[in-house]
This record gives sequence, C-alpha cells and structure tokens, in this order.
Amino acid sequence: TTARTARLRVWRGDSGAGELVDYEVEAHEGEVLLDVLHRLQATQCPDLAVRWNCKAGKCGSCSMEINGRPRLSCMTRMSTLPLDEAITVTPMRTFPVVRDLVCDVSYNYEKARQIPSFTPEAGTEPGDFRMMQQDVARSQEFRKCIECFLCQDVCHVIRDHEENKEAFAGPRFLMRVSELQLHPEDTADRRAISQDEFGLGYCNITKCCTEVCPEHIKITDNALIPLKERVADRRYDPLVWLGSKIGLR
Ligand code: F3S
Repeated sequence: TTARTARLRVWRGDSGAGELVDYEVEAHEGEVLLDVLHRLQATQCPDLAVRWNCKAGKCGSCSMEINGRPRLSCMTRMSTLPLDEAITVTPMRTFPVVRDLVCDVSYNYEKARQIPSFTPEAGTEPGDFRMMQQDVARSQEFRKCIECFLCQDVCHVIRDHEENKEAFAGPRFLMRVSELQLHPEDTADRRAISQDEFGLGYCNITKCCTEVCPEHIKITDNALIPLKERVADRRYDPLVWLGSKIGLR
C-alpha cells in the first residue's frame, strides 16, 4: 500500500490551557483519521488523549472536529481530506475539555435524566398493545442514534452560549421528547415541558444537527418540526386558549 505523510494540527492541552501542535504522520491507503491518530499515539505522543471504542461508527465515542467540522474520526477517510494542507483536529467545542481531544459530555447525560420516561396507560402489560408499522418505524429512526453528540456540538443555540445550556436540551434530547410525544401508547402530554423545560423554542430549524448526524437521522424534519407543530396546536388553538382563559383546563 502507498503511504503518504499527513500533516496534523492537533489541539493539545487540558481544561486550563492548550494549543495547536503540528505533527507529521504516515497515512496509509484506505485509512481513516482515527488510524492516523493511533499511529501518532504509537510513534510520537503516547500521552495523546483520544476517546474511541468500536472503530465502526456505532459507539459514538470518537467525536471531534476535523477542519472545524463535527465528525466521527473513525468514519472520516483520509482520502476525503485535503492532504496538501494541515488537517486541524480539535475537541468538540460545545463541551468542556478534559484533555486533548477528550471532552466532558456529562451535560448530555444530565439532560437525558430530566426527560420523564415512557408512560403507558396504568396496568398495561407487555404485549397488551399493538402499534401501526408507521409508528414503529418513526421510533426506529430516532433509535438509530448512537449518542455521538455531534448534533449537540454543532447546534448554535449552545455552541457558543454556555448560558443557554440550562434551558436547552439540544437536538438529541428534543428528539427523544418528540419520540415519546408522537408515541401512540404514551399517555403523558409532553408539549408544555418541551417548551418550558427543554427549550424547544430556542431551535430555529437551522438543520445543522441533521447535517452532521452520522446515522442520517432527519432530526429536524422528523422530530423537531413535528414536535413544534404539536406545541403550536396547543398554544394557538383558539378553543384551547379560550378554555384556559375561562378555567376549563
Ligand atoms: Fe439546533 Fe438543530 Fe434546531 S442545530 S437550532 S436543534 S434544527
């Protein structure tokens, strides 16, 4: 196989300070960026921190920013990157850095914990309900999520706005709320919490989340917009509005 020399400009540092450091590393035909980072680790900097696990685009661990774009390094072929210039490799910008390319993504787990779980009718036993295939398919699309958090990283609402993190759950978790809201057997009304607790109104449908999803989930079109439509129905339906005003609800 033919080997080339790749120039990597890698962010090295910790939560206190860091800088971009240039390296020259061999890159072999057919390799992905994660292979080259592993070679860098093996040959030049054994202390380089990089999180990874499956190397098959399914564990969601090796998220980072490659030439400024949120991507999985195990799914980024070297042949797709311009090799005549340095490739910039930086940690996800939206989350605090632990060291080098490793971030603290615990924000996401906090948001996940806040979502009230699936709530079927009381007394429902396994096998009690049947679902239409189209309802099953909708959930299945959302459940392809590998929790790489690239959508959370790219969304402008929190990318440079630490102050919005409290009020905004991010596309991955608004998608989860949407999945439950659209689920025919879920009895909880999640429209109010979508807006009030998870910040659905902050999303202005830029679709950047959909663009970076390695599972090609149509986050904006299939999860966020349908959830917004249901929230709007509730808020602007004149009868519901009148009912709420005269105390019927
Ligand atoms: Fe953010 Fe996606 Fe909405 S990137 S603004 S959650 S469409």
